[in-house]
Amino acid sequence: MQPVLNYLKKNQDRFLSELCEYLRFASVSAQPQHKNDLLACAEWLVAHAIKLGLDARLCATDGHPIVVAKTKLNQRAGKPHFMVYGHYDVQPPEPLDLWTTPPFEPRLEGRNLFARGSTDNKGQNFAHLKAVEAYLQTGTPLPCGLTFVIEGEEEVGSKSLSGFLKQNRDELACHAVVISDTGMPDLQHPALTYALRGIIAFEITLHGPARDLHSGIFGGAVENPALALAQLLAQVRDKQGFITIPGFYEDVEAMSKYEREENQRYPMKDAKLKKLLGVTELFGEHGFTPTEQRSARPTFEINGLTSGYQGEGSKTIVPAWARAKITCRLVPNQNPAHIRQIVCDWLKQHCPPTVRLEIAAGHGAEAYKVSPKGPQAQAALRALEKAFGTKPILMREGGSIPIVNEFKKILGADSLLLGLGLPDDNAHSPDEKFNLDCFAGGQRLSAHLWQELTAAVAKL
Ligand code: BES
Ligand code: MN
Repeated sequence: MQPVLNYLKKNQDRFLSELCEYLRFASVSAQPQHKNDLLACAEWLVAHAIKLGLDARLCATDGHPIVVAKTKLNQRAGKPHFMVYGHYDVQPPEPLDLWTTPPFEPRLEGRNLFARGSTDNKGQNFAHLKAVEAYLQTGTPLPCGLTFVIEGEEEVGSKSLSGFLKQNRDELACHAVVISDTGMPDLQHPALTYALRGIIAFEITLHGPARDLHSGIFGGAVENPALALAQLLAQVRDKQGFITIPGFYEDVEAMSKYEREENQRYPMKDAKLKKLLGVTELFGEHGFTPTEQRSARPTFEINGLTSGYQGEGSKTIVPAWARAKITCRLVPNQNPAHIRQIVCDWLKQHCPPTVRLEIAAGHGAEAYKVSPKGPQAQAALRALEKAFGTKPILMREGGSIPIVNEFKKILGADSLLLGLGLPDDNAHSPDEKFNLDCFAGGQRLSAHLWQELTAAVAKL
């Protein structure tokens, strides 16, 4: 083990410049003009994995390719098998004018490496690749077989991956899936995330007059769809922060005493959170802490609101339509199809007859939760402690990684969520960054993890 750790320590500068190469690909999965950048990024990953000693291949899909890289047959035969999952696609970088330097020209400032995709998710999955490189290049035998699956469609719903899992079920069968695509509160608190929220997405449009109207000539005698939408959506939440739609909370599982206690160890204080978010007050359901509100409670959010004239100056119209993009985050035991149904029914019931309501359904996924007391989770906690030198915490997180449910259903494998992101990493935002101490810590975590996990599985 020591040679592996020494190798990691000695090679940080090279790892950094390689990570910069990886970050220079504008692998924006949502934007069709970047299709070739995704392909080039995937090809770079395959070549890199081969160079460090893995068997790697590019798997074409109807969308962006999936990269599969595994330890060689003679090194993996007869050993327990684990998967490392990550994604090489990134969110759109817009708005570009809010970036200090261009998103695909990585810039190091102190210990922070700025670039789109640095924390979400290239830096995080690259940490695991570098740990495996250290084993292979120092001739240290890996106690287990490893398969990396790094996809290019995570940020647009992982459309091709579940089919790929079904087609390659035998090859990908594993004892657990390791994912570094979440966060930790700070470097003194490495974390095992044991629950994620689920999600439903949809768009509602209220149609009013056949075209935009002169608001002086017709305004006052005809419904304004923007106001109707505002009034409709305003009824969704009460003053205490609760969603008013009947049945919304019906299946929500209460947090156990153990969970609420573990939550107290989460180090983010309200003052720090306010400062991070740039708000003077926090807001959420009465009776729950901010940590609970943003991880263990369901939400109804407006992600985008559009209607009427958006350009400079004024334009006196009654708009023809108004639209809202909405997502609800869901918690364990809530059924996405059922919640979608009751939310849509409620909107139909409460929409005034002066407008026509159109609902377009988007993606959906169940929440995820796994016991943090199981032997593999305990092994991961030991590896975290060895890597970061401090006792890790257990937490739930509010984001969603829908594919973890497919790993469970198709491969029967639980996911170990070992995030390396920090709360101020600006994932999905301008000036996204990744901390190099998280990068190095992640490499050590991965190095220890294979020992700990293999030992835990051997005892099963
Ligand atoms: N890495 C995130 C998910 C995440 C972030 C989980 C932080 C927990 C903590 C992932 O790349 C992501 O952004 N997922 C989307 C999924 C959605 C588009 C279905 C999300 O959570 O919004
Ligand atoms: Mn993301």
